[in-house]
Amino acid sequence: MKYNVEDCTLVELPIVHNESGSLTVLENGDNITFDIKRIYYLYDVPMGAERGGHSHYDLQQYVVAASGSFTFILDDGMNKKEIFLNHPNMALHIKPGIWREMKGFSSGSICLVLASMEYIENDYIRDYDDFKNYRKNG
Ligand code: TYD
Repeated sequence: MKYNVEDCTLVELPIVHNESGSLTVLENGDNITFDIKRIYYLYDVPMGAERGGHSHYDLQQYVVAASGSFTFILDDGMNKKEIFLNHPNMALHIKPGIWREMKGFSSGSICLVLASMEYIENDYIRDYDDFKNYRKNG
C-alpha cells in the first residue's frame, strides 16, 4: 500500500506534569502503532543546515522535537506538506514511501526519531527521480 502525506499525522502525546517538570511516554503496544527497533537523534545541527532528502521503502518513524524546533517537508510524489515541530508532546508519524526534508533547526534543537526497523541502507531511496518512479510504478 502506498501512503500519502495526509496519512502522516501529528499525534498529541499525554504529558505527566508535576512541580518538578514534565514527562511524555511513547510505548510499544500502547500509543505506538509499530514496535520500536531503533532510536536515534539529531543534534548539533548548524544554523541553516538542511537534512533528509530521502524516502524509505518500508521504514516508518515517529519524530519528536525533544528540544527546540524544526520543520519537516513531506512529499508523496503528488503533494507536499510542511510540519513545524516545536513541542516534546507532539509526534509526527511518517509512513513508508514518503520523501522527507528537514530544515529550520533552532539552536540546540534535538530531533528524536523512533524507527520501526534497524538501519538498512537498502531500504533508502536517495535519488528523487528514483522516488518518483517508485511512486508511479512500484
Ligand atoms: P541519514 O538517514 O541520511 O540522515 P538524515 O536523514 O538525518 O539527513 O543518515 C546520515 C548518515 O548517518 C548516513 O551516512 C547513514 C548514517 N546512519 C547510520 O549509520 N545509522 C542510522 O541509524 C542512521 C539513521 C543513519
